[in-house]
Amino acid sequence: MIELLIALIPLFKAVHIFALIIWCGGLVTLPLMIAHHDPTDSGEDYRRIRQATHQAYIFCVTPAAVTTVVIGTWLIFLRGVFEPWFYGKLLFVALMVFAHAWIGHIIVEVAETKGRTRIPEPLITLMAILLPMAAVLFLVLAKPDLSGIELPEWLRETRDHPLPFEIPKR
Ligand code: HEM
Repeated sequence: MIELLIALIPLFKAVHIFALIIWCGGLVTLPLMIAHHDPTDSGEDYRRIRQATHQAYIFCVTPAAVTTVVIGTWLIFLRGVFEPWFYGKLLFVALMVFAHAWIGHIIVEVAETKGRTRIPEPLITLMAILLPMAAVLFLVLAKPDLSGIELPEWLRETRDHPLPFEIPKR
């Protein structure tokens, strides 16, 4: 079983990267779509843009985010990545998840208050998403040696609670 999972690592990585492209692309596109909400739009235009942002968020961007995180979590164990650059990556992924939730909140606000919500400048929303995204990509692609950073003991030592299944050794 474990050999099969190891053989599937390239496939898992491909799905991880495919899903994160959709996730990141959606997070960049949604603030621009939201910026097109103009309170002076006709009812029909307003409904069309509201539905497009809402459906893109629910049916495309959020499932892609969940797929990225789930497959990424499998990869942690299959690749045995327990290194400082990876913990840094997780910190910036957490910021991406916050930005994702914030964008969802703006979409709901826009839908429920019909033009009375003050939409944040798209530049601010874009920076909230592009900065952590760039940091994640830098950390995962450059894999910088951050061993000089002092990590708490619980991140360096095993906790003596082994997983109930075998995981591959690097
Ligand atoms: C909770 C979310 C995530 C987890 C747990 C996770 C975990 C992982 C793991 C364990 C690997 C394999 C690393 C290796 O083989 O050395 C990986 C690869 C990768 N991840 Fe993620 N990841 C997550 C989110 C993201 C995000 C949001 C991005 C980009 C914005 C990203 C970009 C990549 C890339 C480009 C690779 C391929 C790197 C390589 O093969 O050298 N990941 N991820």
